Amino acid sequence: MLEVAHIHGGPVLRGVVRAAGAKNAALPILAAALLTEEVVTLRGVPDLSDVRFMAEILRHQGAEVAQPAPGTWVIRAAALTHRTPYDLVRKMRASVCLLGALVGRLRRAEMAIPGGCVIGPRPIDLHLRGLETLGCAVTSEGGLVRVDAAAAGGTDVDMGGPMGSTVLGTANLVMAATLTPGVTRILTAAREPEVVDLCALLTKMGARISGQGTSTIVVEGVARLRGCDHTIIPDRIEVGTYLVAGAITGGDVTVQGAEPAHLEAFLGKLREAGVSVETGPGFIRAHGRPTRPVDIVTAPHPGFPTDLQAQFMALQLLVPARSTFTEKVYPARFMHAAELQRMGADIAVEGAVASVHGGKPLSGAPVMASDLRASAALILAALAAQGETWVQRLYHLDRGYERFEERLRALGADVARRPAADLPKGFAED
Ligand code: EPU
Repeated sequence: MLEVAHIHGGPVLRGVVRAAGAKNAALPILAAALLTEEVVTLRGVPDLSDVRFMAEILRHQGAEVAQPAPGTWVIRAAALTHRTPYDLVRKMRASVCLLGALVGRLRRAEMAIPGGCVIGPRPIDLHLRGLETLGCAVTSEGGLVRVDAAAAGGTDVDMGGPMGSTVLGTANLVMAATLTPGVTRILTAAREPEVVDLCALLTKMGARISGQGTSTIVVEGVARLRGCDHTIIPDRIEVGTYLVAGAITGGDVTVQGAEPAHLEAFLGKLREAGVSVETGPGFIRAHGRPTRPVDIVTAPHPGFPTDLQAQFMALQLLVPARSTFTEKVYPARFMHAAELQRMGADIAVEGAVASVHGGKPLSGAPVMASDLRASAALILAALAAQGETWVQRLYHLDRGYERFEERLRALGADVARRPAADLPKGFAED
């Protein structure tokens, strides 16, 4: 059943919310469980449609996947197929991170090439170039890519592309290199905390890795990996989203279980905007509303995360001055701007730059979510808008936020999940 979020703007959000595990750490880590035939136990796994879908793909590959308790997944990949068909890949682009795990474990993979998505073209050329540099034979035909790692051996692999580093590309190379003979040095590696968490898991499995968190990761290949028990890091994007939810209502929200060191660029901008931010071991508190404009440029970590750009844009709608948002990761990721305009926002998009002229009154409207982070941004704007907002295509939200509306409600928001049939006449999707 199609569902929509129904929000009445106005209530001030106050209270404490607990961070869930990071989606973008959990997805490659679930794939990495295929690197051993032993049991891998993962804890703190968020309950999201993308995670459930990744579990389905692992089962397709031949792994046994069980969920003995909420947030705990147990994977045993005794025998595997190296083939991943298009109907699995097309539903979730992140399934591309199976490539490194299959190449590592089986020394070959055959996978459908994922298509683009609404936030941009999202090619995988850097993943394939990286595997080729590692000595893999890579061929593509009929929408499939075949990778044969029989002749692969450790070497220097530069993963840099036009946007800098690639997160899942780095994850794929690290996974493939763990079981590739010799020493692989990954240059222009992604420094994201999610890549560091993947390396932490792989190290527990017996991999020899150093340099994670810097732009050079060194992997010394080993003959086999073993099972382990690992807890996923908190979701920094979700944490940032809740902090914005508090600030956009002039409230006071504390996120427990958060890691402030993962969010430095974001917290710096929040402070620059005039929001009071307090951090301590395992928590971040934001209170008060933004009062000053900011200029934000998204960039790979430790830069400002593209996955928080839409939410921060919603926040700056409150500030009666010009804020700018420059996308250096996905130059066209501004689909939310047009929907925010339907709520009264004044945003001009020119190429990879969006200029927000804040301070205009926001009013609730039926709007359409185009992707995961856009759907969060629309709900945030709705919290600050006069009247009622309906956010359609809520399935985007469920890919990356666990029980979002329920947890916002616990902070005082007036938000409910309703069947799409409840939409005002004339706004329902066909
Ligand atoms: N790129 C290429 N060629 C490649 C790979 C990437 O040109 O082979 C380009 C992309 O088109 C993009 C840039 O490089 O312009 C960076 O893309 P990257 O590969 O780093 O993205 P990703 O690994 O596919 C992950 C997250 C995204 C997040 C980006 C950037 C996961 C599952 N996904 O994607 O998360 O936006 O890194 O930080 O980890 C989200 O959670 O909403 C989301 C989209």
